[in-house]
Amino acid sequence: MLSKRLDTIAQMIDTSNVYDVGCDHALLDIYLTKEKNINCIAIDKSKDCVKKAINNCSKYNVDIKVLCNDGLNNIDLLQDSTVVISGMGTKNIINIIKNKDIETLICQSNKNIYELRKNICNLGYYIKDEKIIFDDKYYIIMKFKKGKKEYSYKQYFLGPILLNNKDDIYINYLKRLKKIIEKDIDKYDYLKKEKYMYILDEIKKEI
Ligand SMILES: C[S@@+](CC[C@H](N)C(=O)[O-])C[C@H]1O[C@@H](n2cnc3c(N)ncnc32)[C@H](O)[C@@H]1O
Repeated sequence: MLSKRLDTIAQMIDTSNVYDVGCDHALLDIYLTKEKNINCIAIDKSKDCVKKAINNCSKYNVDIKVLCNDGLNNIDLLQDSTVVISGMGTKNIINIIKNKDIETLICQSNKNIYELRKNICNLGYYIKDEKIIFDDKYYIIMKFKKGKKEYSYKQYFLGPILLNNKDDIYINYLKRLKKIIEKDIDKYDYLKKEKYMYILDEIKKEI
């Protein structure tokens, strides 16, 4: 029932409550409720998605609280909870979590992974875990906890935990990233070029 991406997120959850912001179909919540007995609160700001989620809950015969809400506005988070935000842009993710006190956050954005890591850490979180999967394209899923750790530019860019646990998928991801940077580097201004030249050198050392 679950895609590889959502299944990876599901396996990273270790709390008894989950807030799935931008739940859309609510398939993650249905799986977590049925298979892991986790209390899920499925949230989406789109009425159509909320309807879809409610229909899926009936189809799979599970009782899940589905809310039509903009992010976590006016929601007091339960203790022992994880906020999941996946399949959304980095800016949207940051807007949803800023000013919230989140114990555990799992997120997945398709773009601007450097900004995602850095901005979330600047809000007072550290990177607890990271996974990379390939399912037609690469997806990086990150788990953050409240707290502080220092990271280098390279770690924000390439992922501190992924760098420490290099597997074939990650190496192939780095090779692809290298090709993309090499193709685009001449379009960048001086400062950005300098930074990307540095990252290219670091990628070459890792692959
Ligand atoms: C591409 S879907 C991702 C669905 C699911 N999380 C996944 O990873 O497969 C993004 C969903 O986020 C919802 N969304 C976007 N911004 C939101 C916000 N601020 N609050 C709640 N839902 C939001 C959209 O309506 C859409 O259903």
